[in-house]
Amino acid sequence: MSAMREAPDPSPLLAVNGLVAAYGKAEVLHGVTFHVGRGEFVSILGRNGAGKSTTVCALSGLLPKRAGSVHFAGADVTLSSPRALVRAGLIQVLQGHRVFPSLTVEDNLTVAAAAAGQRATRSHLADIYGVFSEIADKRHQPAAGLSGGQQQILAVAQGMIAQPRLLILDEPSLGLAPIVVDRILSVMAQLRRQGVAILLIEQLFDKALAHSDRCYLMETGRMVHEATSPELVGNDVLHRAFLGGHVA
Ligand SMILES: Nc1ncnc2c1ncn2[C@@H]1O[C@H](COP(=O)(O)OP(=O)(O)OP(=O)(O)O)[C@@H](O)[C@H]1O
Ligand SMILES: [Mg+2]
Repeated sequence: MSAMREAPDPSPLLAVNGLVAAYGKAEVLHGVTFHVGRGEFVSILGRNGAGKSTTVCALSGLLPKRAGSVHFAGADVTLSSPRALVRAGLIQVLQGHRVFPSLTVEDNLTVAAAAAGQRATRSHLADIYGVFSEIADKRHQPAAGLSGGQQQILAVAQGMIAQPRLLILDEPSLGLAPIVVDRILSVMAQLRRQGVAILLIEQLFDKALAHSDRCYLMETGRMVHEATSPELVGNDVLHRAFLGGHVA
């Protein structure tokens, strides 16, 4: 296991320390530690079942924590509710596009903004429709009528309209054509340039590396490697982690 570096920023936007979580008796996270700096784009990479989704659900309180701490924007939020964290600007796009099927596309966006204590202004909506024309055309139709890919785009758009300080995206690429994935990641990179921190969970590691500043590799409930993205490009640690064998 490579040494975990100290956070360069003494007060990162998100700091997760020693997070332990379980489903019933099955402990899935065995002490997960990582951080995301202010305005930083960080990826968590790992195989199926590594514990990536469990990590983001446990840090935001959607799943109870057995141990560990979470700090967000300088405050201890270990015991905060998911709702309080959303209001504080920690916005999650859960794996598997969860939108409100009976609401129109636009109402889905309005509700997502309101949940975060924000207002979906005309200009915010126009920005979103400008980048995601596939949902713009259907803004007055119920979300149930969207394709799976369009619902995934709507879920990402819901995260954006909530005006996050940290936007967490759990495998946004699922079910999407590569060209749409590229567009979503470019939009995320643009948000990052505007000061929004991004935490991307992905299995498409080439795409994640291309856009993020720093990456963690996760294996069976622990972060096993941390590196800047350029350090990981072409690095055989990734191949061992994803194509067989364990990271030493
Ligand atoms: N609701 C659940 N009940 C019981 N076990 C679960 C539940 N959800 C996940 N698990 C188990 O917890 C472990 C971690 O799952 P998790 O979904 O966090 O992995 P992941 O890294 O997000 O994988 P993927 O890339 O497939 O989304 C796996 O062994 C999985 O089978
Ligand atoms: Mg997952």
